[in-house]
Amino acid sequence: MTHALELRGVTKRYKEVTAVSGASLEVNRGEILGLVGPSGAGKSTLLRLIDFLEPPDEGATLVGGQRVLFGSAKAALVRRRTGMVLQRPVALNRSVRNNLAYPLKIRGVDDEQIFKRVDAELKRLGLADRSAKNARTLSGGELQRLCFARATIFDPETLLLDEFAANLDPANVAMLENQLKSYITVGGSRAVMIVTHNLFQAKRLCDRIALMWDGGVVEVADKKKFFENPENPKTAEFTRGDVVY
Ligand SMILES: Nc1ncnc2c1ncn2[C@@H]1O[C@H](COP(=O)(O)OP(=O)(O)OP(=O)(O)O)[C@@H](O)[C@H]1O
Ligand SMILES: [Mg+2]
Repeated sequence: MTHALELRGVTKRYKEVTAVSGASLEVNRGEILGLVGPSGAGKSTLLRLIDFLEPPDEGATLVGGQRVLFGSAKAALVRRRTGMVLQRPVALNRSVRNNLAYPLKIRGVDDEQIFKRVDAELKRLGLADRSAKNARTLSGGELQRLCFARATIFDPETLLLDEFAANLDPANVAMLENQLKSYITVGGSRAVMIVTHNLFQAKRLCDRIALMWDGGVVEVADKKKFFENPENPKTAEFTRGDVVY
């Protein structure tokens, strides 16, 4: 079976900083892969490369077993089927309702369907009473819920989430985590990658976990092995909380 996503030796440099260095990993269909590691390790950069938001300097990205080049028509198609939540999410300067309608509109969904789906989503997220508000006036946690909904409302095949629940209270964390768990079980063809600093969250949600360190992916393992019996001493050090960052 081909992987939903695969990175082979991907490198990204910003002037003198090598943010991602020869990183390789795979994401399978039906799984949630966690990406953890110290601050500055390159996690967010890696996720942006996977979403074709920036070109890599070296290496290849494969989607469904096929190489996809940055800026190609194929990359545009892949992006249409991918939902992304950025670490520092930005809302469009329009109402909450229109922020949610936008991803459906650009994918050609008809107005009646849009209205129904947006309404359902607003209720599900507890944002119904905020629907007419400008999304830029939302609280940090409200914005995170909106961004999660914006990334999932069009039923993407792949979901890339960077600290998607970092600003939320426990009840809302649980609500989004439950939505993510149901999202991944639909159809068996979906794939999710989450970046998180919350190792308990990684433990709750992920099937496998990857550790990034200094731009490289140093270990990818099943969750149990990752926490209990890792191959790389850095993984043990990191999960014990011995890394100062
Ligand atoms: N656009 C950019 N221009 C210059 N340097 C960048 C840029 N984006 C990231 N970097 C640098 O690349 C390195 C990796 O950054 P990245 O944001 O990927 O780390 P991270 O693992 O997500 O960290 P955190 O856990 O703090 O979010 C850092 O040293 C960062 O300063
Ligand atoms: Mg980051």
